Amino acid sequence: MRAFLLFLSRREGLKNFALKFKFLRKVAWRFVAGETIDDAIRAVRENNQLGIRCSLDLLGEYTLVHADAERTTIDIIGMLDRIRTEGVQCNVSVKLTQLGLALDSEFCGRNLTSIIMRARELDNFIRVDMEESRYTSQTLELVLRARREFENVGAVIQAYLYRSERDVRTLIANRTRVRLCKGAYLEPDTIAFKKKRDTDANYILLMKILLDSDLYHAIATHDEAMIAAAKEHARSRGIAKNHFEFQMLYGIRRDLQEQLAREGYNVRVYVPYGRRWYPYLMRRLAERPANLFFVARNIFMHSRRDTPILRD
Ligand code: FDA
Repeated sequence: MRAFLLFLSRREGLKNFALKFKFLRKVAWRFVAGETIDDAIRAVRENNQLGIRCSLDLLGEYTLVHADAERTTIDIIGMLDRIRTEGVQCNVSVKLTQLGLALDSEFCGRNLTSIIMRARELDNFIRVDMEESRYTSQTLELVLRARREFENVGAVIQAYLYRSERDVRTLIANRTRVRLCKGAYLEPDTIAFKKKRDTDANYILLMKILLDSDLYHAIATHDEAMIAAAKEHARSRGIAKNHFEFQMLYGIRRDLQEQLAREGYNVRVYVPYGRRWYPYLMRRLAERPANLFFVARNIFMHSRRDTPILRD
């Protein structure tokens, strides 16, 4: 089921079809803050009021037109300005294929640099999300290159990849902050762990390497066992609660997000917004089959009145 949903997430035709259905939008709104920057800022404010910081993500990936990648770059810079005007506690996550990585690495690097430079002027931070394994090396190269010039950029490491321990060590050696996640894409067993217990074991190994370094990293997971392991490791090594942060996704385990914040940990919620929510939604459904019941219920409830609406 996971593989099937991840396969569907890459079907362009289905994406355009899905965007026409109101009920799918309603399902998406469980995981996505809305379609506009105003929706996103509202979600950030709600979290900030609970002592939770955010990372805003303008949805979009696999851009294959130069002008679209440039437009997205301008929009993300606009988002940074808006964060400053609103005075909210929030940084920004970007995907490099959204900035043209699939077109031309140098072009993408220039777009990334423009975003990081504006973020630096505004005292903000850019987290570069990690995508499918065919982009891993290029993504890390661009982050490391940017890191030589700028302080305010960090990487993401996926614990399901065999290569990740080496990458974590390289990033630490280059004083680069890491967000550790399990990994959300469909990868072959030649390069990635397939069993949850193997990914989890690698996650804990990488978490310990990261927390033992003197850099501020992010432990991104909703898995209570991973969170407990991180807390225990920090406690046993005398690592202060403000030496790292926990990160979770908008709409998932809100109870846990609030509980960790109340316990005095730094918590950041990843808040996606925008009209290109389809691949993001499919990855969230793939992570947890139970989410499909939510979809099914919406289909059932709306099947009589939901007719495709034109894309506006
Ligand atoms: P796991 O999948 O084992 O789930 C543990 C528990 O969490 C589940 O039992 C359930 O309770 C809850 N849960 C998890 N996913 C859920 C869902 N979709 N709906 C409802 N409940 C759910 N990946 C990537 O490849 N590149 C990236 O850049 C990022 N970035 C990123 C940022 C942040 C802040 C987070 C939290 C995650 C990512 N990810 C990511 C996604 C990540 O790789 C992974 O797919 C998800 O976090 C799910 O894995 P868990 O660690 O939560 O564990």
